[in-house]
Amino acid sequence: WGVIVTIDGNAASGKSSVSGGVARALGIPYVSSGLLYRAATRLGLEAGLDLERAEALLAHLQKVPLRLEPLAGGNRVWTGERDLTGELHQSAVDAGVSVVASHPEIRAWVDAQLRALTPPFVAEGRDMGTNVFPHAQAKFYLTASPRVRAERRAAERPEDVDAIEAALKERDHRDRLQSAPAPGARVIDTGPLTLDEVIAEILRGVEE
Ligand code: C5P
Repeated sequence: WGVIVTIDGNAASGKSSVSGGVARALGIPYVSSGLLYRAATRLGLEAGLDLERAEALLAHLQKVPLRLEPLAGGNRVWTGERDLTGELHQSAVDAGVSVVASHPEIRAWVDAQLRALTPPFVAEGRDMGTNVFPHAQAKFYLTASPRVRAERRAAERPEDVDAIEAALKERDHRDRLQSAPAPGARVIDTGPLTLDEVIAEILRGVEE
């Protein structure tokens, strides 16, 4: 049963909570591709690298042993013995990650790690259904208005909702090239739905 379910969508569209819920209901792991882009960004910032320069960043990443652990309760990212996960949602990482994700070399580095994982799993990100797993059995794309997404984020972080909304719009703009619904993906506006309703709609789609 080597099923792959892809759940793509823009920043703060609810992808990780939804993917976690769908994966638990199906009894399989989920894989958060954004965490690998975030880890690349965090490690680049730490090393004082210019995130615009893909070559130096990639050379640095190839020296550190990075590992994505796709646990059902929440993915973790390790460099050796150090758990990086808690540092991956800082505002500095949010602000830099789109630049890092715009480099084809870095995308290839992330894609290789994802394709090395053994299905079944739920893969969550921006281009899971388009580029990384085009042969996936079921594909979904989550959206919501910038305001709805900002309000959800504001409930998680001690930041002003207007500032969050502005930063989300900026990231949407920078992510637009790597973020589009896959052909055949079911597009779900999560704005009017609860988390459980989104999960239920996806589970119905998987069974069809
Ligand atoms: O999903 P999340 O918001 O954590 O992703 C962080 C960033 O990683 C996105 O803003 C995007 O720039 C990049 N990303 C990507 N392709 C993916 C997943 C994430 O470009 N498949």
